[in-house]
Amino acid sequence: MPRHDMDFDLLISGGTVVTESESVITDIGIRDGRVAALGSFQRSSARSHIKAAGLVAMPGGIDVHVHMSLPFGGTVSSDDFGSGSRAAALGGTTTMIDFASQIPETSLCDAIHARKREADRQVCIDYALHLIINDVADRWLRELPETLALGVSTFKAFTAYPNEGLMLSQLELRELMTRVAQYGAQVDVHAEDGLTIEANRQRFVELGQTSMAFHPRSRPATTESEAIRDVLATAHQTGCRVHIHHLSTAEGLSNIEAATDISVSAETCPQYLLLDASLYNTPKAALFAASPPLREPQDSEALWKGLRSGSISMVATDHCPFTFSQKTAGDKAFTEVPNGMPGIETRIPLMFSEAVVKRGFSLPLFAQIVSTNPARRFGMYPQKGTIKPGSDADLVLLDPKAHKQIEHTKLHMNCDWSPYEGMEVTGWPITTILRGEILCQEGEWIPANPKGRFIPRKVG
Ligand code: URP
Ligand code: ZN
Repeated sequence: MPRHDMDFDLLISGGTVVTESESVITDIGIRDGRVAALGSFQRSSARSHIKAAGLVAMPGGIDVHVHMSLPFGGTVSSDDFGSGSRAAALGGTTTMIDFASQIPETSLCDAIHARKREADRQVCIDYALHLIINDVADRWLRELPETLALGVSTFKAFTAYPNEGLMLSQLELRELMTRVAQYGAQVDVHAEDGLTIEANRQRFVELGQTSMAFHPRSRPATTESEAIRDVLATAHQTGCRVHIHHLSTAEGLSNIEAATDISVSAETCPQYLLLDASLYNTPKAALFAASPPLREPQDSEALWKGLRSGSISMVATDHCPFTFSQKTAGDKAFTEVPNGMPGIETRIPLMFSEAVVKRGFSLPLFAQIVSTNPARRFGMYPQKGTIKPGSDADLVLLDPKAHKQIEHTKLHMNCDWSPYEGMEVTGWPITTILRGEILCQEGEWIPANPKGRFIPRKVG
């Protein structure tokens, strides 16, 4: 039977619909997995109906920096694509970007296909991939057009981790940026000065200074800000678009703000906004090992200012969970503790509470930071990151008045602790919808067989 224009598969009525540009009470009609129309649809028919009065209806969250099942520090991060993506949805995130990693002596495309196969077996939300490049030989970089055709349009470089085979020298980074710039694509950088950090770590170990208090001392703020300065200079020389991952310092931010003649974006993470380095002097210090490390309260304040002004355009998580025993088993030297923390499930509620409720960020600015700007910068807009006719119907209904205390026992990440344990938040995502399918409602998981999809990305 032909369908009437105003027939929907799902109607969400009466919510405060928030996009990057406005916040307005209206209805959302969804058909065939996409937003069909916005307006007043009292007389339309719909197979399902959610009454959303009093709720915020926003574009599904997009987390551009996550690590599922990452082999790291002698172990493997504890969420796989199944558990991590399910937890993401329960926390209001509908798209994530993980990483494929170049495999020695292997085609770049094969590395992408292998990671896709791993994800596709389990993933419950939509996902995309960055590609980590650790060998810039011509025979590999020649494959860049093929990776772009596969929908992988961002290439990650490390200026850290010399002993893990990840670090690119300045010359290698320049080569990568030169080649990537030819296609208008982007290099994403983990910007820390790996050689200085490694020298610091060795010196502390030789002196027997192996407690967690030496972790931040081995990676002082200058190791980030100077690495960022050098990366931005290389971006300037090569004309390459660049994205700075997990910005943690005020000085790093100043360097980004000064780089007005290049296309640069930056993300920070909740841990750098909400936690600080005093945690390294507590009995639970090992849990907070991360690279870069937690910083000083004045760094967090600068990052909040950068978010408000737009110099930092998004909040990601660097979700890389390790369980309590992975972090703390044995009496480990700080150099032996795997770096990384859980966060994919708590990003949206923490940011709503801390940015909107506590610091007065507008709802559109909130939507920009957690969804629209990531979609735009990473080549997924307007399919993702907004609520417009034609966009994927990826939506989160958030109760702005809900009060909760963060307790890891009530979260769903495969991790038995939370960096935010005990923190009170106002606002919580209660319904998450992926391409028109309700994934979870009131903390309950709905579909038996949810199917996340790989999202090929354009050059941003
Ligand atoms: O501490 C972190 N960030 N762990 C994950 C690996 C990385 O450096 O991105
Ligand atoms: Zn990371």
